[in-house]
Amino acid sequence: MLREVPIMNDKLYIFDTTLRDGEQVPGCQLNTIEKIELAKLLETLGVDIIECGFPISSPGDFKSVAEISKIITESRICALSRAVEKDIDAAADALHFARLKRIHTGIGTSDYHIKYKFNSNREEIIERAVAAVKYARNKVDDVEFYAEDAGRTDNEYLARVVEAVIAAGATVVNIPDTTGYCFPEEFGAKIAYLVNNVPNIDKVIISTHCHNDLGMATANTLAGIMAGARQAETTINGIGERAGNTAMEEVVMAIKSRKEFPVYTDIRIKQITKVSHQVSSMMRMPVQPNKAIVGRNAFAHSSGIHQDGVLKNRESYEIIDPTDIGLNDSIIALTARSGRAALNHHFQRLGINLSAQDLAIAYEKFLRLADSKKDIDDADLYELAGVAEGNITQKIKLSYLQVVCGKNAIPMATVTLDIDGESCTATCGGIGPIDAAFSAVKTLVHRKINLEEMLIQSINKGTDDIGKVHIQVENKGQIYYGFAANKDIITATVEALVNAISKLL
Ligand code: KIV
Ligand code: ZN
Repeated sequence: MLREVPIMNDKLYIFDTTLRDGEQVPGCQLNTIEKIELAKLLETLGVDIIECGFPISSPGDFKSVAEISKIITESRICALSRAVEKDIDAAADALHFARLKRIHTGIGTSDYHIKYKFNSNREEIIERAVAAVKYARNKVDDVEFYAEDAGRTDNEYLARVVEAVIAAGATVVNIPDTTGYCFPEEFGAKIAYLVNNVPNIDKVIISTHCHNDLGMATANTLAGIMAGARQAETTINGIGERAGNTAMEEVVMAIKSRKEFPVYTDIRIKQITKVSHQVSSMMRMPVQPNKAIVGRNAFAHSSGIHQDGVLKNRESYEIIDPTDIGLNDSIIALTARSGRAALNHHFQRLGINLSAQDLAIAYEKFLRLADSKKDIDDADLYELAGVAEGNITQKIKLSYLQVVCGKNAIPMATVTLDIDGESCTATCGGIGPIDAAFSAVKTLVHRKINLEEMLIQSINKGTDDIGKVHIQVENKGQIYYGFAANKDIITATVEALVNAISKLL
């Protein structure tokens, strides 16, 4: 007899593993202070469970879990362990001060893991899983069991493991697609199999934990939810081992946008953009521009037909209102494929109202310019509209930059700006050369400017390459973009900042 999955809006618990699976990525390591800062952001975002480390793995990880446990009170704090007593002891000790705590313990259940990783057999793995869950339940009330590589584990055996760990006291069972191997129907069918064949399954929450090796992580997670899973393990921006984990923002916004999902989440979606930027900059992991929901181009429209449609009615080409996730608005990018409506939209943004005839003339000039120049900026728009010369030249220019930096050196920068023909200089220190130069620029322009995003990319390869820098700054709630390219990336970065600031002056 099939057990029916209730079709009502259940809560989907969001389990965030940015600080554990995400942090395992080479180059993304955080220190305890940075981890605490991110944990606080995740708590404010509304994450239900924050997995913040693997305490046995290093003293640093232990300390991070212990410190986060003292500070976070709303979200449940989770620590990872293998199905080994000393791991479970370390997890329980690190979680000592947590108000709400969970130990996440488990073992590989696929034949690959049983045979090659453990040199063991199926029965022995069940015994080890059961012993670990019982041991952890003596330490905390909430124990999540993971069946590592469940994606490649035979369903009948997986059901036996799950039944045994529930009987041993597991409160949540995690079904990871560790290698990102499954297709959505297959993963959904796996969850449905457990729902329908494990007699005590109603005693636990089923969790998904999908990796993105075939680009299916979000699809698999959603299929799992449709089949009865009520916890999704995710990371911000989808960071994680190899091709990454399921991206939280994608799951949350898919559920929010499509009414057929029988679940809701408590994620405060207005904060998604901010948290995504923070994770990207703290973990030094740029978000690909076309990444769903949080990529720089996710709400940027560049073809004329799309721009015209969005300007008439946003919903013609947008399924999510960008302001819902904390962005200011959609971006109508000006490129050689843009139409008249987009050009006029930008003129109006700058307060320039042209007659139909003048707009037609400006549009012809614009198409020629856009063919030869990728980045059409406000100065170009003033020129196209024939607005006074004073408005078209960049008001401030970088005329001199000297930085001191290096191992054990105290970073300093001297910056000279040409502001409306007047030259002024400042010298500042900072935590690095860019920070020092930014402080000097901000001192000279007397404005409160917040750096929202900075992307440094090389064009080719090699140490003599040109660095391209895109910058996004905020002043009084308005976003300004700056761009520069230079063989010296520090000069390019400061020039990009000056370019952005010149637009706000
Ligand atoms: O991918 C995986 O299987 C994991 C487990 C440790 C939960 O990260
Ligand atoms: Zn994982």
